[in-house]
Amino acid sequence: MKQKVGVLASGRGSNFEALLHHERTGFFQNIEIACLIVDQPQAGALEIAQRYGVPAYTLLRKDFSSKEAFEQAIAHTLDLHGVSWVVLAGYMRLVGPTLLDKYPQRILNIHPALLPSFPGLHAQRQALEYGVKVSGCTVHFVDSGMDTGPIIVQRCVPVLPNDTEETLSARILEQEHQAYAHALKAVTERPWRIEGRVVRFLDETKE
Ligand code: GRF
Repeated sequence: MKQKVGVLASGRGSNFEALLHHERTGFFQNIEIACLIVDQPQAGALEIAQRYGVPAYTLLRKDFSSKEAFEQAIAHTLDLHGVSWVVLAGYMRLVGPTLLDKYPQRILNIHPALLPSFPGLHAQRQALEYGVKVSGCTVHFVDSGMDTGPIIVQRCVPVLPNDTEETLSARILEQEHQAYAHALKAVTERPWRIEGRVVRFLDETKE
């Protein structure tokens, strides 16, 4: 039986949709996307879930007395679907110990910069303002820090002289949609372990 993936999102949901597209076209051998949870009632991801027939839930932080209670509600919802992998797709909150302890090395995030450069909000703007000549995206395991966990996949794009935050973001987003699917496929289909903070794929020969 395929392992179940739960997706957490706060907004537009284009990474969620890209993963669904990969799933529906047979890209993943071992997983299926079981549910979506959003923490914003207006999240575009909800409409995508409806279009693809994925069960979706809205859980608002303000309806819970603590972050722990909020994350327990998320965990309960994920349990209803037998979820063993959690994918953050534009989920705008730091993950706390309740979820981290329940899914050790089983929560993935995507960030629109080449970490460890430019963590946090507005990564594309940070990259432009810094003046880097390449940027990209990073898929990583989630730990208790902000965009600090072990790196699974990175893809890079050029930063062009006339780039705006919008044009650079669009170029990176195209790579995000590929990188996320490849990273999720890799960690669910290939043998790996984390050495220090390095994700080592054991079917890859060491140089
Ligand atoms: C993406 O740029 C992702 O890297 C970041 O948030 C954005 C979400 O976009 N974490 P979308 O909701 O997947 O379209």
